[in-house]
Amino acid sequence: MTEKRGLWGSKLGFLLAAVGSAVGLGNIWRFGYMAYENGGGAFLVPYAIALVTAGVPLMILEYSLGHREKASPPLAFARVNRLWEPLGWWMPTVAFFGINLFYAVVIGWCFNYFLLAMNLSWGSDTGTFFFKEFLQISDSPFAFGGIRWPILAATALAWGVCWMICFREVRHGIEKASLIFMPMLVVLTLVLVGWSLQLEGAVDAVKRYYLSCDWSKISLFSAEGRKVWVAAYGQIFFTLSLGFGIMITYASYLPRKTDIVGNALMTCFLNCLYSFITGFAVFGTIGFMAQAKGVPFEEAIKAGPGLAFVVYPEAINQLPAGNRIFGALFFLVLIVAGISSMISLTEAFACSICDKFNTTRAKATSLMCAVGMVGSVIFTTRAGLYILDIVDHFINNYALVIGGILECVLVGWLLRAGRMRQHVNGCGGRRLWPVWDVAVRVITPVMLIIVVGGAIFQEFQGCYEGYPVKALLLFGGGILFASRLGSFVLSHFPWVPPRLLHKHEPDEEQLLT
Ligand code: PHE
Repeated sequence: MTEKRGLWGSKLGFLLAAVGSAVGLGNIWRFGYMAYENGGGAFLVPYAIALVTAGVPLMILEYSLGHREKASPPLAFARVNRLWEPLGWWMPTVAFFGINLFYAVVIGWCFNYFLLAMNLSWGSDTGTFFFKEFLQISDSPFAFGGIRWPILAATALAWGVCWMICFREVRHGIEKASLIFMPMLVVLTLVLVGWSLQLEGAVDAVKRYYLSCDWSKISLFSAEGRKVWVAAYGQIFFTLSLGFGIMITYASYLPRKTDIVGNALMTCFLNCLYSFITGFAVFGTIGFMAQAKGVPFEEAIKAGPGLAFVVYPEAINQLPAGNRIFGALFFLVLIVAGISSMISLTEAFACSICDKFNTTRAKATSLMCAVGMVGSVIFTTRAGLYILDIVDHFINNYALVIGGILECVLVGWLLRAGRMRQHVNGCGGRRLWPVWDVAVRVITPVMLIIVVGGAIFQEFQGCYEGYPVKALLLFGGGILFASRLGSFVLSHFPWVPPRLLHKHEPDEEQLLT
């Protein structure tokens, strides 16, 4: 059965969906910590440079590729060069199997913690509670030790919500959800930031640790400083959801007349602004807790899951009033931010399947969500956190950035950036300057190659987090290899119908309002 390709109902709907994908768990628990680790306010310099030299050019690239070819990544790649189809499959495949499966489980943790917050049932020792009672973490990545049922149930809920949103046509599913989720996220976040900042010791911590600049940390003349630059590029990629073909997919639902450059700039700006603002809540709350418990700030702050599930509950315990509401609010923010990213990961893969096999959205998304749910089970076992950590490390350091390099070669060199720029400038929006050609052909890929080189170099400095080599190869190398193999296999099926390789006629000519 052939379905007509859907379109976004409004310009705002598309923008909010794209921002929804970009704003996720990474903005909340990754950005603040990275800023702290890497020189406080000074980190904003490499971050901004990474944004301008890699983030913005690639966002424009992904939007324009999806828009020009009106296709998901495999089809878009195949239309530019047939030999590149397997690489086009690789991006959504690795995003789905490498990120979405554990992203759903982390949202599941948040659902659990949302309920736990109602009674502060995590007790006073939040670290022991999280690792020993909640995750019941085993001793090694190979000791699965059975499934944690509350986590599995909540993960199924996350997949259920994702399915309910994705299986409808974009305009009625993802767009509607984004129009509800994003304003809700802004309001909840602002309440959280305001509340955090009026806690005792909060403003002081923000000034001392978040906004002060330690310029020596970002010096290009030291190995430590160069690491910070690599980290900034990695963060920009992850936070903008680039290199996974998500933005290609979202842009494929845009009508012919569209302001590609304006939308790309706006998506980048809103996402980074959100990260910057949530940083105030993170530093404020931790500053308050450090003061209340009389521990140094340096000891209180943690990265990743430790921040959300250990430090935050601890801070919530210390609040003078409204602990339960504050706790529920924080986990609700994580749930909303997480689900809007999860739907984008699901969409990119499901849309690729629809394009290739000409199946309906409902069928493709139902199948994907079922497969995703089964795949998530491994992360709900007692070794789940270890596997998650390893997979996340490899995907973030390699898959994303390699995806970005491939896109630059495809569009910058094979298609030629100038041709793509002509397309963008013919869409009736803001004009794209020729400097973009240089960025896409040279600056961005060179920067990204340096980033991958730096990551490989660090890999040989010692096993990541001291995990056994076997575990790193099996889970980290395994996911990269399996997704490559999967994409290779998928690309060998014939297109149904074969004419799909020829461009669609533009669906509609209208300009989104
Ligand atoms: N951008 C999201 C975040 O910051 C994560 C994400 C990455 C989502 C890639 C989709 C794709 O958390």
